Amino acid sequence: MRSKLIVGNWKMNGSRAANAALLEGIAAGIDGVQSAIAVCVPAPYLQQCEDTLKGSTIAWGAQDVSAYEGGAYTGEVCAKMLCDFACRYVIVGHSERRAYHGESSELVAKKALAAMKEGLTPIVCVGETLEQREAGQTFDVVGAQLGAVLAQLPPAAVEKIVVAYEPVWAIGTGKTATPEMAQEVHARLRAQLQARAGEAADSVAILYGGSMKPDNARELLARPDIDGGLIGGAALKAQDFLAIIHAAE
Ligand code: G3H
Repeated sequence: MRSKLIVGNWKMNGSRAANAALLEGIAAGIDGVQSAIAVCVPAPYLQQCEDTLKGSTIAWGAQDVSAYEGGAYTGEVCAKMLCDFACRYVIVGHSERRAYHGESSELVAKKALAAMKEGLTPIVCVGETLEQREAGQTFDVVGAQLGAVLAQLPPAAVEKIVVAYEPVWAIGTGKTATPEMAQEVHARLRAQLQARAGEAADSVAILYGGSMKPDNARELLARPDIDGGLIGGAALKAQDFLAIIHAAE
């Protein structure tokens, strides 16, 4: 039985003051919660997370990582640096990075590998655009995105990743995949993981992301292959994030 994982992706939001209130609000509402919880924050706030969350059950992580180990790569942040701030997770291949920064699946695979080499858990994002869904290409698209990462991993390493299915058309739009639509894709992703890693794939968390909110979270999270959420907008308000966390229980 997989336990649930609820991750807040703050994207490029936050300030020291707002983060302090948000983290305090989340920490105050998670007594007795069984699910694993994490926040993925802008890199400048990793120190604040470490200072605030150390010793709590809330993990933290980054939203991107360099594919390189270090050196002359202006603006990049490598996996070792994230470990210096005790990160557990790093998101790779978010559709916003694929779309606005031209990240290919091959680069995403390199980033996942670079993260794993340092002991970080990559949250590998996959998802189709509306155009691709309407053209009946959803499984081909997400299959190719995940496949690029799996091709780089020895089967024994597959259980160390987290996958997030985020239909691009559902991100920040208020449109959510129905639980049936999401479950269908999650089941296909699970089958792909199984084909590569066998039974070990059963322990891989596959998160759903895309307008997950307090009012739709319970139904999505009740599906057998939806193991948690990667939450954007609703992760910026403690009350909403907590409602989703509790919907997962
Ligand atoms: O990483 C999170 C996703 O992009 C979902 O964002 O919950 O604001 O739709 P959203």
